[in-house]
This record gives sequence, structure tokens and C-alpha cells, in this order.
Amino acid sequence: MSTQKPIRRITCPQITARKGGDPIVSLTSYHAHTAAIVDRYADFILVGDSLGMVMHGMENTVSVPLDLMIMHGKAVVRGTRRALIVVDMPFGTYEESPQVAFRNAVKIMKETGCGAVKLEGGARMEDTIRFLVQRGIPVMGHIGLTPQSSHVMGGFKTQGRDEDTWTEHLEDAAAVTRAGAFAMVVEGVVEPLADKITEQVAIPTIGIGASAKCDGQILVLEDMLGLNPKPPKFVKVYGDLNDQIENAVKAYADDVADRSFPTDDQVYR
Ligand code: KIV
Repeated sequence: MSTQKPIRRITCPQITARKGGDPIVSLTSYHAHTAAIVDRYADFILVGDSLGMVMHGMENTVSVPLDLMIMHGKAVVRGTRRALIVVDMPFGTYEESPQVAFRNAVKIMKETGCGAVKLEGGARMEDTIRFLVQRGIPVMGHIGLTPQSSHVMGGFKTQGRDEDTWTEHLEDAAAVTRAGAFAMVVEGVVEPLADKITEQVAIPTIGIGASAKCDGQILVLEDMLGLNPKPPKFVKVYGDLNDQIENAVKAYADDVADRSFPTDDQVYR
């Protein structure tokens, strides 16, 4: 008989049912240890492709390979028992056709054990999202600022500053909903547009750099823990891990240099 607590995860329909209700709490996480902590507080954990930037020093998310997402996805699933785990489909693994997207989404789900995938794009991804959902793959949409298209957008640019573009963003949100996504990330859009999207769609919106009125919020864990020396404006920094790590490493280096580590407590007699 197993003595471990049973794994009972929050499901995609449970997330969808939270539309207009208690705010949905979510964070990214990329390894088993931090995921175990986040698991106690978050409704879903995103293994986002931002891991390429915050863990692997890449300039943007475009270079992130599928195998890297799978490796971190496995670690996060292993470290958690309660939250829904959503894994990002990286650039180049889903845009070509619904069939290619299906093959890669199946690979992600089988190899990581995650409960859903996320992909970027609104109206242009409607058919692909529908194809996946109809075949048993829960999809979280991602509209507004879509970092995988940053080369086309000319950088990480806030969306919707020009009201003339709102119709296009609202149509993206409607298309993702029609296609059967269970929730959608709304990233980097001006607050009134985020509010309009949240009002108009029947599935939860998860804001990042969007609005407090979204149905939930997400942040990149490393940003909110203070590991990013230059976090974006929309990040509220809740910790100062950068300084704490620096101080601990320096104290260790000093102790080694003057032989005050190890002490009697740290050696075997
Ligand atoms: O990759 C990521 O971290 C994301 C969040 C910003 C939503 O997609």
C-alpha cells in the first residue's frame, strides 16, 4: 500500500468553471523543487517557454526546442500533486498544420504527464485549437502580446494602444473561445482592452501585464522572486532572491577562503 498522498489535480473543466468567480492563481515553474512550493498555492502551473530566457539565457523564446519543454515539464509534474500542469508548445511545433500540432501535443502530454498544452495566436490558430480539443487535448490559448512572434512585432510591444486594433484582438479572443480552449492567457495589452476581452468571452482570461479584472493572473516565478535584475513594469516583485543568493555565495566563498568552513559540525569524526 502506498503511503504517499494521492495525486488529485485540478482539472481543465474546473478552471473553465471559475469564469467570473474567485480569481485563478497561477505561476510558471521549471523545476521539481519550486513546483512543489507553487503547487500548494496555484490552481495551475505553466511550464512556459520563457524558461529559455530565465533558465537558459536565451534572448527570446524563439530558439526553445521541444525537448527542453519536455524535460522541464517532466520535472514539474514529478514535483506536484494538486495543480493542473500546462506545458507551452514552443515556436515551430504547431503553426504548420493541425496535424503537426497534434503530433507534438501528444508527445508533450505522453512524455511529461501534463494536463494541457498552451499555444500562441488567436484567429490564425482557431482551426488548430479545434483540431486538438476534438481529439482529447485541452488547449489554453494565448493572445495579445505573443512573444514567439516578437520578430514580426518588432519586439515585446504592449498591444492595443491604438483603439483601431481592438477589433482584431477581440476577434482573436472570440476565435480561441469558439475553438474550444478552456482558458486563455491575455498578455501585454492595455487595461481597457483586457477588460473588454474578459467581459466578452465565456472562458477565463489569465492576465499578465493586462488587468486586475481578468479572471486570473500569472507571473513568471523568477521575475516575482526577484531573480530578474530588470523585470518588466507589470511584475510585482515579492522576493529578493538575487541578493539572497549573492550574499549566501559570497559568505560561503569567504568562509572557504579563511578556513571557517567546514567547522566541527560539518565533518565526520
Ligand atoms: O512562457 C511564459 O512564461 C508564458 C507566460 C508569460 C504566460 O507564456
